[in-house]
Amino acid sequence: MSEANSIRSGIKAGEIVADHVNKSYGAVQFSKEVVRDCSFTIERGKLTVMIGPSGCGKSTLIRLLAGFEKPTSGTITLNGEPVAGPARDRLVLFQETALFPWMTTYDNILYGPRARGEVTKETLDLAEFLLNKVGLQDFRKKYPTQLSGGMQRRAELARAMINNPEVMILDEPFRGLDAMTKELMWEYYSALYEENRRTNFFVTTDIDEAIFLADRMLIMSNIPTQVRAVLDVDVPRPRRLLDLVENDRSNEIKMRALSILHEEAMKSFSRGSKAAADFVDAYSKRIGKA
Ligand SMILES: Nc1ncnc2c1ncn2[C@@H]1O[C@H](COP(=O)(O)OP(=O)(O)O)[C@@H](O)[C@H]1O
Ligand SMILES: [Mg+2]
Repeated sequence: MSEANSIRSGIKAGEIVADHVNKSYGAVQFSKEVVRDCSFTIERGKLTVMIGPSGCGKSTLIRLLAGFEKPTSGTITLNGEPVAGPARDRLVLFQETALFPWMTTYDNILYGPRARGEVTKETLDLAEFLLNKVGLQDFRKKYPTQLSGGMQRRAELARAMINNPEVMILDEPFRGLDAMTKELMWEYYSALYEENRRTNFFVTTDIDEAIFLADRMLIMSNIPTQVRAVLDVDVPRPRRLLDLVENDRSNEIKMRALSILHEEAMKSFSRGSKAAADFVDAYSKRIGKA
């Protein structure tokens, strides 16, 4: 069996369904509504990207999917079973670095299986496979501070994937990286995804990132957030960065997504929100450029 096949055979792809989910914070009279009547499916074995304006409630939704918090009402299920709390079947990769500074790249990647006392020949093979896939084979003995920002994120991807979660959940994992490093991350990350077809849920505010990565795109409203539109990104894989510029289908989807996001921003703009005004500015520039 090839290495790729052996990693694929260990994967169980889960499906998450959010059904009429509401989330508010605080006592009733001061309550802040962040998620309103939100329903969507994170389909099995697909890469679903959620895109929405900053502050709309994406990370809040992730905390609910992960089971760190409970919805005020509505249900979230994994493979039909209600999500009761955090568990290994749903792994969340946050934007903040989570590598242990006192461990080498290799030890960081093996941390999860070791902590559970589950290091087998397969685990070590998988560590080797992932180390190569994220291009860190020559950096296995380095410590996080000796790695660039992009390398650290790649090590984190490997460290998460070795645990074989049914659903990988990523909250703006590449935010803050410079443009070229970010594009490189898209290539590494999508190659890993294409290799194993695990269920992935990826949250971003970056339209190009969304189009490059997604099988399906969920476009969110402003706060209190709900799904405004679901777009299939039917652009063949493996994708090339040039597709973002040259591929007509990519551009068509990008324009549709931007017009929905723009419409959403205009609505809150008319309600006088400063954040929405900035958002309209940023996205109008992009539409002009596209
Ligand atoms: N524990 C909390 N209590 C009160 N408000 C919260 C809490 N968590 C998040 N919020 C509010 O929810 C809104 C959405 O936040 P977040 O989910 O982080 O948005 P996003 O990830 O889309 O940028 C913010 O306005 C934030 O103030
Ligand atoms: Mg967030």
